[in-house]
Amino acid sequence: MCEPRHFAVEYAINPWMDPTKPASAERAVEQWKKLRDTYRSLGHTVEEIAPVPGLPDMVFAANSGTVVDGRVLGSRFRAPQRAAEADHFRRWFVEHGYRDIVMPAQINEAEGDFAWTGQVLLAGTGFRTDPAAHAEAQEVLGVPVVSLRLTDPRYYHLDTALFVLAEATESRPAHIAYYPEAFSAGSRRVLARLFPDAVLADTADAESFGLNAVSDGRNVVLPVEATGLADRLAAHGYEPVFVDISELRKAGGGPKCCTLEIRK
Ligand code: ARG
Repeated sequence: MCEPRHFAVEYAINPWMDPTKPASAERAVEQWKKLRDTYRSLGHTVEEIAPVPGLPDMVFAANSGTVVDGRVLGSRFRAPQRAAEADHFRRWFVEHGYRDIVMPAQINEAEGDFAWTGQVLLAGTGFRTDPAAHAEAQEVLGVPVVSLRLTDPRYYHLDTALFVLAEATESRPAHIAYYPEAFSAGSRRVLARLFPDAVLADTADAESFGLNAVSDGRNVVLPVEATGLADRLAAHGYEPVFVDISELRKAGGGPKCCTLEIRK
């Protein structure tokens, strides 16, 4: 995670961002610290990267890399305003002992568009990550990739429209939640075929950034506004854990965007 000390909305690269509206780094830091402490109180280890002045979106660490079995595929941002983040994150991985690091040739916004189910890497495209990055991820990480097409600009990253509730194990398939309307007709059919038991989100869930959630298989950290989705997750046996991330939403982000999940 990356503390939003230099957070601001200075440019608009997604429909949620409005640089004419005020955004407070101080409030963002307060909310972010609660998110970090929530993970710690749930027993997870949180590592941090130092924020860099002039990179207001660096708080969205999910866009920094994709780690599967200790292998790291770095990122390459579509927006020039975020391009410099990729190398800061690459250095973090180097300094933290990762040896198997590949920087991508194709535009690749990492876990913004990649979701690991324990079996396959679900990969979004349409707004940010280039479809050619999907094949690159498959080759570099050595995992099967399933391409999905996003069609609604408000859901510009896969992690705004889908998340993994529980990774696949030997005895059961992965369980996911998603908002079908964010996907092309073909991708909806792919998702229905692969995940017939998925939790389907509605427009209210998606608009409150409810799909931008982080699950450890039991606890689901999600925005406090996503009450409808939380009720349905609870009915499926999950434990919703609410966080207020309203300041970071002004940049189009939620809990998941702030969180890169590292699988050692
Ligand atoms: N302002 C950032 C951008 O548009 C938000 C990134 C959110 N990250 C995410 N994983 N969805 O790039």
